[in-house]
Amino acid sequence: MSTPPQSQRTQVAIIGAGPAGLLLGQLLYTAGIDAVIIERQSPEYVLGRIRAGILEQITVDLLQEAGVGQRVAHEGTVHHSIELVFANTRHPIDVTGLTQGKVVTAYGQTEVTRDLMEARQAAGLLSVYEAANVQLHGFEGDRPRVTYEKDGRTHALDCDFIAGCDGFHGICRASVPPGAIREYEKVYPFGWLGILADVPPVSPHAVVYANSERGFALCSMRSLTRSRYYVQCPIDDKVSDWSDERFWDELRRRLDPDLAERIAVGPSIEKSIAPLRSFVAEPMRFGSMFLAGDAAHIVPPTGAKGLNLAASDVKYLSNAFIEHYHEKSEAGIDHYSQQALARVWRAERFSWWLTSLMHRFPDTAGFGQKIQEAELDYLVRSESMSRSLAENYVGLPLDFGMGAGT
Ligand code: APR
Ligand code: PHB
Repeated sequence: MSTPPQSQRTQVAIIGAGPAGLLLGQLLYTAGIDAVIIERQSPEYVLGRIRAGILEQITVDLLQEAGVGQRVAHEGTVHHSIELVFANTRHPIDVTGLTQGKVVTAYGQTEVTRDLMEARQAAGLLSVYEAANVQLHGFEGDRPRVTYEKDGRTHALDCDFIAGCDGFHGICRASVPPGAIREYEKVYPFGWLGILADVPPVSPHAVVYANSERGFALCSMRSLTRSRYYVQCPIDDKVSDWSDERFWDELRRRLDPDLAERIAVGPSIEKSIAPLRSFVAEPMRFGSMFLAGDAAHIVPPTGAKGLNLAASDVKYLSNAFIEHYHEKSEAGIDHYSQQALARVWRAERFSWWLTSLMHRFPDTAGFGQKIQEAELDYLVRSESMSRSLAENYVGLPLDFGMGAGT
C-alpha cells in the first residue's frame, strides 16, 4: 500500500521559482502572509537561464518594496533613450524627455532572480526545489491542495490559494479544464539568435533596435563589461549554424556604418536561439488558483515586456491576497484577472507592434521593407508617435485609465 502523503499547510502555494514566483513570495512575506514555493528545477538550473534585462521603473520599485532593491540600485544602468537604426541611419528617441522624466534600467533577469532567491533564503522561507510530478487538486473549490514528489515520497501542501507562476510550459494552466480557458496565440515566422560576450557594450546608455533588409538586430548590455546582442534568424536555424565570427559579421551588416565599426567583439559565453510568440490565456483566475507571468502570457522579446508584465501581475495578485487576509475583502481577488489582463493586452499590443515594425517578414519582403522604413521615418519625425513609443517602452502606469498613456 502506498505511503499516504505527508501534509503541510500554508496560506499561498506558489508554483514556480522564476521571477514571478519569487517576487510574489517576497511581497507576501513583507505583508506577513505565509507562502511556500514549489519548483521543479534546481536553483542552479533556474539561475542558468539567460533572459532579457530591461526593467521598467515599476519593476525596480517593486524590487525595492520586496526588500531586494539594493543591488539593482547600485549595479543597474539607467537608460534615458533608445536608438532606432533603419535605412543605414541611427535615430535617438529621447525616452525620458518624452515621458516627463521616466527611465528604464538595464539589469539582467538572472540577477533579479538571484537577488530574490538570496533574500528568500536569508529570511528562512521554504522553497522546495527539484519537486517532481507537481499536481493541483481541488482548486475549483476553496480547499486546494498541491502534491509533489521529493526524496522518494509524495508530499501534500494544503493551502487557501495556489499562485500559478510556473511559466509557459507549467502545470497550472494545463490543469484548467479546456472549456474554462480561452487561449490567443500568434507565432512569428522567425527566431532570435542571442549572444552574451564579455565585451563593453557598443551603446552603454541606450538599447539599439535595428531594422535592415537582412533582418532585425538588437544591441543591449548586462553591465559596462558584458554585452547582449541579438539577430533575427530563420525559425529552423540551429546554434551550430552560427559561429561567433558569422554572428559578429551579420550583426555589423545590420547596423549603420558608424555603429558597426564600434562593435567590440569577443568569444561568446552564451549563444541560443529563441522562438517568438504572442500568447494570452483568459481568464487568469480559476476558483482559488491564479495565473501570473509567463504561465498566463508570452510576448515577443522586442519590447522587453516579459519580466515587467510578470512583475505587474504579481503586484496586482499580492495586493489581492493582502486585501483578503488583512481587510477580509474579496474585491482584489475578484478583480485580479480583469485588472491584470488590461495591462497584459496593452503590452501585448506594443510588443506585437514593435516586432511587426522592426523585423523582416518573408511574405512581405521588399514592399514590407519600404512600408516599415516609411513608418520608421514618420515615427522619428513625429513627436506624438515618438511619445507613444516612449510611454509604452518605460511602462504604462499600474492603474492606467482609459486614456492612451494614463
Ligand atoms: N512544477 C513546478 N515548477 C515548474 C513547473 C511545474 N510543473 N513547470 C515549470 N516550473 C518552473 C520553471 O522551472 C521555472 O523556474 O516555473 C518557473 C517559471 O519561471 P519563468 O518561466 O521564468 O516565468 P516567470 O516567473 O513568469 O517569469 C517571466 O521569465 O521566461 C521569462 O521572458 C520571460 O522575462 C519573463 C520571465
Ligand atoms: C536584453 O537586454 O536582453 C533585451 C533588451 C531589450 C529588448 C529585448 C532584450 O527589447
